[in-house]
Amino acid sequence: MIKLVSKKFSNKKDAVLLVTKKTDLADVFGIDNKYLDSKKDSDSNDIAFSADGDRCLIVGFVNKTDKLSETDILQEYRVLGCKVCKKANAEKINALELKADGVSREQVIAFLEGVLLENYQFLAYKSKKEKNPLKTIHVDSIKKPRLEELANLAEAVYFARDLVNEPVITLNATELSKRLKKAAPKAGYKIKVLDKKEIEKLKMGGLLGVNKGSVDPPTFNVLEYKPANAKNKKPLVLVGKGVVYDTGGNNLKPGSYMSTMKCDMAGGAGVAGAIYAIAKNNLPLWVVSLIPATDNRIGKNALVADDVITISDGTTVEVKNTDAEGRLILSDALVYAKKYKPMLVIDMATLTGAAEAITGTYGIATVGNAGDDLKNKLKQSGERVYERLLELPMWKEYDEQLKSDIADISNLGGRIGGAITAGIFLRHFTDYPWIHLDIAGPAFLEKAESYKPAGGTGSGVRLIYDFAKSMADK
Ligand code: BES
Ligand code: ZN
Ligand code: ZN
Repeated sequence: MIKLVSKKFSNKKDAVLLVTKKTDLADVFGIDNKYLDSKKDSDSNDIAFSADGDRCLIVGFVNKTDKLSETDILQEYRVLGCKVCKKANAEKINALELKADGVSREQVIAFLEGVLLENYQFLAYKSKKEKNPLKTIHVDSIKKPRLEELANLAEAVYFARDLVNEPVITLNATELSKRLKKAAPKAGYKIKVLDKKEIEKLKMGGLLGVNKGSVDPPTFNVLEYKPANAKNKKPLVLVGKGVVYDTGGNNLKPGSYMSTMKCDMAGGAGVAGAIYAIAKNNLPLWVVSLIPATDNRIGKNALVADDVITISDGTTVEVKNTDAEGRLILSDALVYAKKYKPMLVIDMATLTGAAEAITGTYGIATVGNAGDDLKNKLKQSGERVYERLLELPMWKEYDEQLKSDIADISNLGGRIGGAITAGIFLRHFTDYPWIHLDIAGPAFLEKAESYKPAGGTGSGVRLIYDFAKSMADK
């Protein structure tokens, strides 16, 4: 993690300057802007680079005169941060001083966020670990606590990305639990891991059913952060899908559809990252994260289509497709959440290809029965952190699709609205305000997109953190 240090600008070291008008270069920094114009970076027209003399200068421009919304401008700054980070690393710069002029505090923070998110590397399996050179940024006029908050949030995103990037050969359900335990004291949350025996005692037939094809036992992870100064009397409960690998089970995923399915615990990683950030930044909010974990595999005893299983609340489910496994393990977690009498439950899951087909990698599909106030707050957070939400309808006509002839409900919807019917299935297990986030699109990238690297993106961590902060603020 790059170290952010609150320090006055000395104008002597390698530096990055953020300006909105080129004339500022001359006025504020005493730099001839014609000279820098000739140094425009070849890959980008919004940064300029100069390495003459005894220091390197990177100048970033954001043109705020465009008709951009405030949240779009923040995103411009994140993207600029990504570009500056790339440039600094390419030039093997270890430390930079940052000075901004005409740029708001939140915009500088967004810029730094872009730098930190870009600088992530997953080197666990590289024999030669070529670490990025950029290690320190001195930041003028932003105080230490705000920089620490940002660094903690980025650390939480890194934590989630690492979990997603780890393949199932090293990260089965047990190992996922180990890592969640290991991070607990560092972040400041408490954790209880239910093992297979306890899961059986709770009759979690969804989690146990999906686990039947596995040689590894399932786990059910309960992470909790409950500060004495919590503003909420009822907790915010987060539920994350923890399918450490999804082969599809006996409805085996064909061709290339299986690869990247190590990402199928990204919802679990996301809610773990969220509680990590909330706890580490001491937000005055009571939060619980629930993560049911197993792989979904073929195996001698694996579920087959036509099986009927019983979820922990007694609901019987006809399994019409073993690849619709996420909703089965989530239903047990949603039932478990009832005992908290939560103010709100947000579940997060790489649940359907149908959601991915709607949003692509650019947003999150959502349904829910929570009130407009909570939904709007979460949507606003989505705009602020640029993890945008698209709400889908839960029209009653869709209910038909989940009917089963022999059980209470089927796990498979029809030909249309797959992201919606998955949500309607989940709703069956809720008796509290609830919002479902389908992150199948943005959770994992085959190719980097700006500050989001190829692989796990940490989708949802910044969204939930911003939302929790807005809940704690009021
Ligand atoms: N994990 C997948 C969904 C998924 C797809 C996540 C693409 C990330 C990227 C999920 O378990 C699944 O297989 N869903 C099926 C559901 C269907 C059988 C109703 C799907 O979307 O095809
Ligand atoms: Zn599946
Ligand atoms: Zn899945």
